[in-house]
Amino acid sequence: MTDAGKIIAGIVLFLVIVTSPMWYQLVSGSTPGAPKLEMPVDVTDCVEGADYMRAFHMDLLNVWRDDVVREGDRIHVAPDGKEYDKSLSRTCMSCHSNKDAFCDRCHDYAGVKPYCWDCHVEPREQP
Ligand code: HEC
Ligand code: HEC
Ligand code: HEC
Repeated sequence: MTDAGKIIAGIVLFLVIVTSPMWYQLVSGSTPGAPKLEMPVDVTDCVEGADYMRAFHMDLLNVWRDDVVREGDRIHVAPDGKEYDKSLSRTCMSCHSNKDAFCDRCHDYAGVKPYCWDCHVEPREQP
């Protein structure tokens, strides 16, 4: 191999190593080190699509709170037409009843600490 060949091989190897987390994600379909969340077992749908929920659940909760407190509007209509009570404790937490292994696990990973539970009732943790 010529010197130029060695250098190119070295650069290629370097790039593969540096971008390996990306390759890993592509191949495994997951983010390395992302927390394993406990999902509801008896239902398949959230109040909105999963991608939307992952990115915007905090905004949706704010909208729900304003609707309930300011407008007295308590009914959320999901994309599939199903109706839900706009309630953090009674709705979100009835499906995501293991707060520890769902909300908290992801928030700990992301370094967020919602203060909602100062006032809102937490579900009783499942064993
Ligand atoms: C009827 C049961 C139910 C209710 C009520 C519900 N969820 Fe969900 N949620 C689910 C299910 C099932 C999934 C997984 C959906 C999927 O993978 O397509 C999910 C997914 C999510 C996700 C994405 C998780 C991930 O990384 O894949 C978030 C965040 C979430 N829900 C938060 C909430 C919040 C906040 C509320 C209240 C505003 C709520 N959910 C209400 C059942 C529910
Ligand atoms: C897939 C990961 C994930 C899951 C699951 C998740 N969250 Fe979050 N949540 C986040 C992230 C990330 C933020 C911060 C977003 C930001 O600051 O823009 C956040 C922010 C929030 C906020 C706003 C907090 C603040 O101080 O701004 C609330 C409220 C909240 N989440 C409620 C919930 C509830 C309730 C659940 C469980 C039903 C839940 N989240 C599940 C990732 C998640
Ligand atoms: C200082 C106390 C306090 C804190 C902190 C608080 N809330 Fe509330 N919240 C209330 C009260 C009081 C109501 C009115 C209850 C009602 O009318 O049913 C309410 C209503 C709501 C509602 C609609 C009704 C229901 O049953 O859930 C939502 C959704 C909500 N809050 C979300 C949040 C979220 C998300 C956070 C955290 C980012 C939060 N709240 C933090 C006191 C609080």
